[in-house]
Amino acid sequence: MSIDPLKIPHKSLWLACAATAAALSSAPTQAQVDPTRFLDAFERAGGKFDGFRRSGAKGVCAVGEFIGSAEGRALSSASAFSGKPVPVIARFSVGGGNPKAPDNAKTQRNLALQFDLPGGEVWQMGNISAPVFGAATPEQFIGRLESLALDAETKKPNPDKVKAFADANPEVLLQGKYFAGQPVPASFGKVNYWGVHGFGFVDAGGKKQWGKWVFEPVGGTQGLSDDEAKAKGADFLADDLRQRVAAGGVAFDFNLQLAQPGDRIDSAVSPLPDDRKKVTLGRLTIKSVSADATGPCLTITYVPTALPKGVEPSADPMLAARAAPYAVGLGRRLGEGAKQ
Ligand code: HEM
Repeated sequence: MSIDPLKIPHKSLWLACAATAAALSSAPTQAQVDPTRFLDAFERAGGKFDGFRRSGAKGVCAVGEFIGSAEGRALSSASAFSGKPVPVIARFSVGGGNPKAPDNAKTQRNLALQFDLPGGEVWQMGNISAPVFGAATPEQFIGRLESLALDAETKKPNPDKVKAFADANPEVLLQGKYFAGQPVPASFGKVNYWGVHGFGFVDAGGKKQWGKWVFEPVGGTQGLSDDEAKAKGADFLADDLRQRVAAGGVAFDFNLQLAQPGDRIDSAVSPLPDDRKKVTLGRLTIKSVSADATGPCLTITYVPTALPKGVEPSADPMLAARAAPYAVGLGRRLGEGAKQ
């Protein structure tokens, strides 16, 4: 007798386990960083807040609809691109482990998505407001997090340790440099969100096109001046999103930048060259936003290797390394009582 995952109380936990198993079975044979070590390192660097995500802690659930385009259908057999509306469970968040992180700082914003496809198939992803991630490999990421651990006495990271690690691993500074050169986003609905990893789009005949995606707001991005950001205060993004969605104004084009032979698609710190052709795979429209601390995203962990038939992972080691810590993170949150 087969087990129906939809009847298991925590479908999201089952999904995380299935995606973890898939990611691990397709991963290279070298050992992965222990996922609990990642979770402990997040807690030591960002603080521990029961029930909250250890990364992207401050966030809000939303639901929307995705409609795939003819260009999407031409590139991939994934049912997400059929052209029929696909329900999506979204989560917008601010980077870091602090549930009270300020909305008016030059930091990361996130857009996590779950496409609920026909036949119980699910496509999950977690996208960020920078074209690069803050580390090139899982080993470098755990090293960076451990260098940022808060000192028991000062409650701050040890600046010597932070500097020594960054000096030896300059890739970890790329993302911060990107954010420093950008304005504070005016809205969760007015900033680009990159997938950062390479993925293969496979058509019905088995032809594969590699690419990297970005969700770009319809009508363009919008930033705040430093004075405007100060005046907005630390908590405006969730209400701003509710107002814009009520006015029917939050939608994103799901764009894929097409890789050419020889392009690097296995690194989360190496964007494709700017001049690579971009195609629009479809449009995501946000339909409603949940009240604070409620909604369908609370018990979901967005595992980026939960992919539909017709989309395949690249060999980026950061991609394969995500599933297990996300599953452990979800387990900790559910055990404590999921809060946001
Ligand atoms: C080894 C590498 C990584 C580890 C260990 C890691 C770990 C985590 C953990 C533990 C969470 C909280 C999950 C939960 O409680 O549901 C999280 C959230 C998140 N991560 Fe990562 N992460 C990694 C790489 C990345 C990369 C490369 C990206 C870039 C696209 C990324 C984007 C996100 C986003 C957008 C969220 C928030 C998702 C949400 O709203 O639920 N992560 N990460």
